[in-house]
Amino acid sequence: MSSDLVKETLLTKMKTPSGSSGSKVTIVGAGQVGMACAFTIITQIALVDVLADRLEGEMMDLQHGLTFLKYMKVQASTDYSITAGSKVCVVTAGSRQKEGESRLNLVQRNVGIFKQIIPQLVKYNPDAIILVVSNPVDLLTWVAWKLSGLPSHRVIGSGTNLDSSRFRVLMSERLGMAPSSCHGWIIGEHVPVWSGVNVAGVRLLDLNPKFGTSEDPDKWNEIHMDVVQRSSPPPPSLLLDQLDALNAISSYFSAYKIIQLKGYTSWGIGVSVGVICQAILSNGFHGIQEEVFLSLPCVVGENGINYVVKQTLTEDERNKLQESVRTIDDIQKKLKL
Ligand code: NAD
Ligand code: LAC
Repeated sequence: MSSDLVKETLLTKMKTPSGSSGSKVTIVGAGQVGMACAFTIITQIALVDVLADRLEGEMMDLQHGLTFLKYMKVQASTDYSITAGSKVCVVTAGSRQKEGESRLNLVQRNVGIFKQIIPQLVKYNPDAIILVVSNPVDLLTWVAWKLSGLPSHRVIGSGTNLDSSRFRVLMSERLGMAPSSCHGWIIGEHVPVWSGVNVAGVRLLDLNPKFGTSEDPDKWNEIHMDVVQRSSPPPPSLLLDQLDALNAISSYFSAYKIIQLKGYTSWGIGVSVGVICQAILSNGFHGIQEEVFLSLPCVVGENGINYVVKQTLTEDERNKLQESVRTIDDIQKKLKL
């Protein structure tokens, strides 16, 4: 029996599948970072790279695990047409520094790579959000924006999302608490926001007025140093062989130790990008996708609602909010208008 016949006997067709799950993500660059992102995102994924063999190998390897994942569909090609219909396009493609190459030259080479990638992404995904991960991330995000012609709010970089996570992990090691309970942000390229560091809303600065300063007897600023200078800079040969663009621009220090030990960083950034993608895909407030009216704190003015306050909710609070949404939505669906 042919597979078409089996399908016909097994299934009653109600509607032709659209081919897109509505939460499709493209990843350009099937290297270490791209694949860690792919594994974390778990949705419909289109992988693009210039290396056809690597792409096929990575796609097959991922596909062999799909039985154990809730929902994931993987396509891979060197042709950008497979990316069509993506909500988010993650760019992890990039080139590493060549021996003796100037930093400016390296960034310039990555600009060349982005010139091949960005127009193709925009051509097939004019409504998507572009999320740049390749280093130097801030510079290349600007480049991607310039090349894309998209409004600036649709081109974002992964920025210091990973650094903030590293900061929180180190903080949690000191306090003996889960990283998810320790809050702190690194902004700009490496600016720690000491005034915002807190546990359950209790600011550590209120407990220790010297918190984060060089006079602090507890030396909390060491955790920031650890994020940005986890070890002393690697020898120049390692720099040239293994570090890529970001070491050029300054915010590479946090990764030195990992790169010295395993050659690249991947899992931390993969999870961090996965969370950003999830936030984009789940859209709306607190992941609410249903068309409902319910109460959230707002700033109102003559135009109606000017702002909705972005509250930080615990998982339990978010679940309860989702319950309210479902209750309202269930009733709405039964109404005849
Ligand atoms: P990698 O060398 O393993 O992978 C890069 C991939 O890009 C390769 O598969 C290569 O074939 C592909 N590529 C090159 N040119 C291309 C093109 N024109 N079109 C499509 N694909 C192309 O590198 P990696 O370890 O995966 O790192 C990727 C990037 O992510 C690096 O720039 C790295 O510094 C960066 N990174 C950023 C963060 C962050 O916090 N933003 C963290 C970790 C790594
Ligand atoms: C990181 C990369 C290398 O892991 O920027 O921080």
